Amino acid sequence: MNYRTLVSRARAAKRHSHSPYSRFRVGAAVLTSSGKVYTGCNIENSSYGLTVCAERTALFKAVSEGETSFVAVAIASDEKDATPPCGACRQVIMDLAGDVDVILSTGNGALNVLKLADLLPLPFGGKNLKNVRRTKR
Ligand code: THU
Repeated sequence: MNYRTLVSRARAAKRHSHSPYSRFRVGAAVLTSSGKVYTGCNIENSSYGLTVCAERTALFKAVSEGETSFVAVAIASDEKDATPPCGACRQVIMDLAGDVDVILSTGNGALNVLKLADLLPLPFGGKNLKNVRRTKR
């Protein structure tokens, strides 16, 4: 699958955005190593902090279906300028998908392909928890 097609899947997913508070619609599409695509949109909540971004919706859908290996995440919004993933999503994508390609798209159709590690240098990860003592039950 080429990245232009992946972006069009993200753009289509944006149609289901539940964003009555911000009116900021976002769609995302995650590409797995086997070529499958999982899409998601942002889902806001009246208790604002419970909102889930499009990227996490898409990735959680994929992981909950058993996917473990990923290649890219594409993001689309209604803005003229590209919408980069928020900090929380960068952390979640790094944890679950690793240093994947992040494809940003602009209103005029231009794509910008970045590596997640460039967007999130020195990430916290499971490796940092290896010395944690767990309590026995
Ligand atoms: N949002 C996303 O879904 N993804 C992003 O990359 C940036 C922000 C959502 C969260 C909220 O519903 C709205 O956009 C405004 O922040």
